Amino acid sequence: MTRSPNPTFDVDSDGIGWITFDDADRSMNVLTEGVMLRLGEALDEARGAAREARARAVVVRSGKPSSFIAGADLDAIGSLEDPLVAEKQIRLGQSIYTDLASLPVPTVAAVRGPCVGGGVELVLACDHRVLSDATSTAMSLPEVQLGILPAWGGTTRLPRLVGLQAALDLLLTGKRADAAKAKRIGLATEVVPTDLFDDQVRAFALRLARAPWRSKPPKRGLLTQFLDDTPPGRRIVLFMARRRVMATTGGHYPAPLRILDILSKHMGGAVEESLVAEAKAAAELVVSPVCKNLVHVFHMREAARKGTGVPAGSGATARPVDFVGVLGAGVMGGGIGQLAASRGIRVYMKDIEHHAISGGLSHARSLFDGEVRRRRMSKLAAERHMELIAGGLEYHGLSASDVVVEAIVERMDVKKSVLSETEAHVDESCILATNTSSLSVGEMATALERPARFCGMHFFNPVHRMPLVEVIRGPATSDDTVATIYGLALTVGKVPVVVGDGPGFLVNRILGPYLNEAGFLLGDGFSIESIDGAAKGFGMPMGPLRLIDEVGIDVSGHAGASLHEALGDRLAPAPPLLDLGRTGRLGRKGGSGFYRYDGGKEKEVDRSVIALLPSVRAADAPRADPKEDARLIRRRLILSMINEAARVLDDGIVPSARDVDLAMIMGTGFPPFRGGLLRFADTLHPRGLLDRMTRLQRDLGDRFEPAPLLVRLAAADRTFYEAYPAPHDRS
Ligand SMILES: NC(=O)c1ccc[n+]([C@@H]2O[C@H](COP(=O)([O-])OP(=O)(O)OC[C@H]3O[C@@H](n4cnc5c(N)ncnc54)[C@H](O)[C@@H]3O)[C@@H](O)[C@H]2O)c1
Repeated sequence: MTRSPNPTFDVDSDGIGWITFDDADRSMNVLTEGVMLRLGEALDEARGAAREARARAVVVRSGKPSSFIAGADLDAIGSLEDPLVAEKQIRLGQSIYTDLASLPVPTVAAVRGPCVGGGVELVLACDHRVLSDATSTAMSLPEVQLGILPAWGGTTRLPRLVGLQAALDLLLTGKRADAAKAKRIGLATEVVPTDLFDDQVRAFALRLARAPWRSKPPKRGLLTQFLDDTPPGRRIVLFMARRRVMATTGGHYPAPLRILDILSKHMGGAVEESLVAEAKAAAELVVSPVCKNLVHVFHMREAARKGTGVPAGSGATARPVDFVGVLGAGVMGGGIGQLAASRGIRVYMKDIEHHAISGGLSHARSLFDGEVRRRRMSKLAAERHMELIAGGLEYHGLSASDVVVEAIVERMDVKKSVLSETEAHVDESCILATNTSSLSVGEMATALERPARFCGMHFFNPVHRMPLVEVIRGPATSDDTVATIYGLALTVGKVPVVVGDGPGFLVNRILGPYLNEAGFLLGDGFSIESIDGAAKGFGMPMGPLRLIDEVGIDVSGHAGASLHEALGDRLAPAPPLLDLGRTGRLGRKGGSGFYRYDGGKEKEVDRSVIALLPSVRAADAPRADPKEDARLIRRRLILSMINEAARVLDDGIVPSARDVDLAMIMGTGFPPFRGGLLRFADTLHPRGLLDRMTRLQRDLGDRFEPAPLLVRLAAADRTFYEAYPAPHDRS
C-alpha cells in the first residue's frame, strides 16, 4: 500500500483547499526536511488550484485530534555543523513559508492543541488563525531555550502581527500563549469551542472564500501605540528588554540578544531584509556550543520524561497512584502534599502536632493562592485541589495510600520506628518512601517487613520550585518500587534521576566539596563578593556562600559534617565554615549570614560576618588582579565538583555521565548553556583535567587529590561521556 504524502492537499466541493499535516509514524507532527519539501509541493498544488479558481480559500490543519505541530526536527538542528549549510536550509524553509504567505487566495490556520516553534511560524504566514478553546491549545516559540531564534519568519512576522512588546514577551522567553491570550494580543483571529472546531473552521473558511478580509489588530492604548509603533518608543522597549535579558542571563545566552539586534535594525523595514538577518543570525547560533549544549539538555530531559527508572526489559510495572500519604507536615511534607494535590492526587498528611497539620495546610493554601494570583489556576480549581488534602494525627488516615512519603525529623531512630508503625497501617502493596537528605536508605529499610517496597524519594527545597527528585534505590528495593516512585515523580511534574544509596546521594554529595571550597577560599582572604561573583560569572544561579545562606547555615553545617564522617578527610569542613556555625547566624531564614535579608529578601553582602570568623585572613586586602582571582576561584570551585562527580561514577551511584549532568542542572541550577558538569569537564579533556587537579593538590593539599577515575580516564584518553554513556547510547 502506498502511504499518503504528508502534508496532503485536497480541494472540497465548496472550493476550500485543505493542507493537512498527519505524520503516520509519529504521535505529533514534526517539520522534518521531508515534510517541509512536501509542504512546498502542496503549496504549488494549492497555487494551481487557486489559479484555476477551484480553490477560493486554503486551510492549514492537523489530522491529529489533539495537537497541531510540535515544531522543527530537533535531531536535524542538533546535527548542523556548518553555518553556510545551516543558512541555506533556513532560507529554504523561509521561502516555503513565503510561498504560503503569498498564495493568491485567503489562508487560515486551524489550530487545536499545542502549536510549537516552526508550527507557530507556519501559522504566522497565514492570513488568519482560528484556535480551539481547548486548554491544550497554546502557541509557543521555544527556540530561544535551545540557543537559537525563530528563523522561518517568526522573529520577523510575530512583532508585525502583535506589536513589539507582546512579541518580545513570547520570543525572548519561549513561554506559551493559550487561546485566550493569543486572542487578546491579536495572534488568534478567532477562538471557537473545541467541540464545534471542525464545523466552525469550515464556516470561517467559507466566509473568507466569499468575502476575504484582513484580520484587525486588537485595540491598544495610546502608550502601547507609542511604544510599539514609533521609533523612539521602540528604542525604549528594546533598551529595557536588553537590560532584562542581561540581568537574567548574565549575557551567557546569545540568542535573545540577537533577536533584539534584529528587531532594532529591521522592525520598521522590509520583511525580506529582516528574513535575511534572521537566517544569518540563526545559522551562526545553531552551530554554536551553547545551542549544542542546550539541545543536549533538552534530550536529557526528554529521556528522563520517557524513562521508567528501571532497565529496559526488567518487566517492572509502575502502579498508578491515586492516594499519597505524607508523614510530617513541615516544610517538606507540606510542599509534597500540595504538589500531589495540585496534580489531582488525594493526600493525607500525618503529623504528631495539630499546629504542624494546620501549618502544612496553610502552606498548601498559600501556594495555591499564589497560582491563582499569577493566573496559572482558577479559584475554583484551587478550591478543588485543596479539598483533596486532609490531615490528622492518626495513622489510619493513611490506610488508603498507594504511596507514603516520609518527611519527618532527620533522625534514623525516629524514622525507623515511624516507618515500621506506618507499615502496619497500610496495605501490603503500599510503597513507602523517605525524603531523607542524608541518612542511609538501606539502613532504614532494616526496620521494615517489606524492604523491597521501600526507597528514597528526595525532593529539594522549595518543593514546588525545584525540578529534581532523586529516586534512591536501596539494596533491597524492587524494580516495581523504583518504577512506581519514578512514575509518581513524573506525574507531579518533576525530573526524576535514579541514584544509589550513598552519603549525600548525588547532588548534595557533589555540592559538598564545592561549598566547602568556598569556605577555604574565604580563609585564603578572597572576599564574599569575589567568590560568589566568580561562580555567577561561570553561570551558577547564585554563588556558593549565598547558597549556604539559602539552605540554612545550620542545615548546611550538619550536611557538611555528615559528609565528612562518611567520606573522610577530603571533606573536612573548612575552618571558616566551622567558625560560621558558631556565630549563631542561620542564613536567609534568620535574616543574616554572608548576606543581610529583610523579610526573607536579600539586601546586601554583610561584610561584618568576616570579623566573626577568626580563621579568615585579611579579607578586604586589595588583590593583585581581579580577573586572575576570578579564574582561580572558579577553577577551585568547579574542579572540586568534577573530582567528586568522578568518585560518584566510580562508586556506581549513577551509571552514566548524563545522570550526573541532568541531576546537577535540575538540582542546583548548574548552567544549562554549559550542557552539564561532566559535559563541561569533557571540554577540558581528561589529561588537562588531571593536570589541573594535580597542580591544585600540590598547592592546596590532598582534598584535591585526583579521583582514581580521573587518573584512569587520562591514561586511556577517554572522556566521561565516552566511558560512562547513557544506556541507550551504548553500542
Ligand atoms: N528542609 C529542607 O531543605 C530539606 C530538603 C530535602 C530533604 N529534607 C528532609 O525532609 C525531612 C523533613 O524536613 P523538614 O525540613 O520538612 O522538617 P520540619 O521540621 O519542617 O518538619 C518535620 C515535621 O515532622 C513532624 N514529625 C516529627 N516526628 C514525627 C512523627 N513521629 N510522626 C509524624 N510527624 C512527625 C514534625 O512535627 C514536623 O511537622 C528530613 O528528613 C529532611 O532531611 C529537608
